[in-house]
Amino acid sequence: MDSSRVILIPGTPPLPYAYEQLPSSSADAKGIEERTAGGGLRWRACAAVLAASAVVALVVAAAVFGAGGAGRDAVAASVPATPATEFPRSRGKEHGVSEKTSGAYSANAFPWSNAMLQWQRTGFHFQPDKYYQNDPNGPVYYGGWYHFFYQYNPSGSVWEPQIVWGHAVSKDLIHWRHLPPALVPDQWYDIKGVLTGSITVLPDGKVILLYTGNTETFAQVTCLAEPADPSDPLLREWVKHPANPVVFPPPGIGMKDFRDPTTAWYDESDGTWRTIIGSKNDSDHSGIVFSYKTKDFISYELMPGYMYRGPKGTGEYECIDLYAVGGGRKASDMYNSTAEDVLYVLKESSDDDRHDWYSLGRFDAAANKWTPIDTELELGVGLRYDWGKYYASKSFYDPVKKRRVVWAYVGETDSERADITKGWANLQSIPRTVELDEKTRTNLIQWPVEELDTLRINTTDLSGITVGAGSVAFLPLHQTAQLDIEATFRPRWWSSDSLLP
Ligand SMILES: *[C@@H]1O[C@H](CO)[C@@H](O)[C@H](O)[C@H]1NC(C)=O
Ligand SMILES: *[C@@H]1O[C@H](CO)[C@@H](O)[C@H](O)[C@H]1NC(C)=O
Ligand SMILES: *[C@@H]1O[C@H](CO)[C@@H](O)[C@H](O)[C@H]1NC(C)=O
Repeated sequence: MDSSRVILIPGTPPLPYAYEQLPSSSADAKGIEERTAGGGLRWRACAAVLAASAVVALVVAAAVFGAGGAGRDAVAASVPATPATEFPRSRGKEHGVSEKTSGAYSANAFPWSNAMLQWQRTGFHFQPDKYYQNDPNGPVYYGGWYHFFYQYNPSGSVWEPQIVWGHAVSKDLIHWRHLPPALVPDQWYDIKGVLTGSITVLPDGKVILLYTGNTETFAQVTCLAEPADPSDPLLREWVKHPANPVVFPPPGIGMKDFRDPTTAWYDESDGTWRTIIGSKNDSDHSGIVFSYKTKDFISYELMPGYMYRGPKGTGEYECIDLYAVGGGRKASDMYNSTAEDVLYVLKESSDDDRHDWYSLGRFDAAANKWTPIDTELELGVGLRYDWGKYYASKSFYDPVKKRRVVWAYVGETDSERADITKGWANLQSIPRTVELDEKTRTNLIQWPVEELDTLRINTTDLSGITVGAGSVAFLPLHQTAQLDIEATFRPRWWSSDSLLP
């Protein structure tokens, strides 16, 4: 694109905000829907940025719709708006509660209609057709497919104890085929939910699935399942082991505080498989990690002490993850990381504050001790994967591209009433490659998996635009459904010399 054709409108006042107030009626909302379909809000966001800048290099990439995206506007337009009933607004932060806690069926929420909300469905983030999802479970590469499982309520848009393991497969981590649920609650030990867990593929190809069963009395126990037919690359049928449950909470631990077994790894120090489970010690409310050894995944031995005990007050460690990074390789398989310069990431999802915390440390498997390299950065008080909405992450080692990939779910902050109206709740993050930052060795670096680039179909380079204070730049672009905008700003007084030593 010839940048000389970009028209600048000097003297146009800067826009006061990029996003509009929430609509107060379905008629207003329909207006927003139409503007968004044309990309209007995004353009205003973009223009607002331009107004505050000097020289701008812009790369605008149009993205393909994800599987669920095509034709969505047509569907939304044909859904008749539910007649708006006036309710008082939901409770919110000013009342000291999140909207989600205001109750699924209370009359205490904003009167959204389905038509108002359909445009909010994602273009290419992972979403099932409908209903509630949260934690990613057991991501694994098997039989030529990436498998993704997730906590899923197959009959409603809020969390309920009928939670199952939803299942989908992909060749590229971006386009997914949805399969029937892999595991559903049908035994006394998981009748209140087939909760979070992981999958391990053993060197001989055997597939081990460990999950948290929520019993009739809401006690959390560890259960084993295996594929009914390991020759099925889609792993559609699973069999729960007759020995279930295989692990119970240890004495002194709350029955509801013992969950989310990790991917197992083989430990050469004693020739056993290991899995770890998060919990908390209620004497000082510290997060703790229990470590188990097993040879057959049926009988387990609790290793003495804790593998790690976090600072007091960190609370229940959910969705523990442990993996090796560094050591001159892009990523390491957990049970093959003996290099000197390997560090071990320990990650917990804090049930108290709903954030994903990690810490880098050394791991002595024989002594069953993980120790942070920096005692200021203990687990749960230092580093986080993300400073936005990002929770219950789970990583896996991708043997195809020899990388570690991490997923988390993004909890939507609207009310349960809104979730019920729109017919879904939450989405999955774009999977990210995660590596040690070798320059600092004090933190991780993450970015979207490279497959994401395949969604970009058309790029327009608009480099070299000069904008003054308060000006608005018109960008001659064709209409599209989704845009990625990369902008680099250079103030007029800046020269490359000023950054040289
Ligand atoms: C919790 O911590 C206290 C104090 O360190 C300890 O005495 C107790 O044994 C711990 N409880 C469990 C179940 O590990
Ligand atoms: C460990 O790494 C070596 C060398 O890269 C490789 O030959 C071996 O198969 C790996 N072992 C496992 C269990 O992945
Ligand atoms: C990019 O968009 C322009 C304008 O719509 C179109 O002419 C061109 O063919 C597109 N290129 C690709 C690769 O789709």
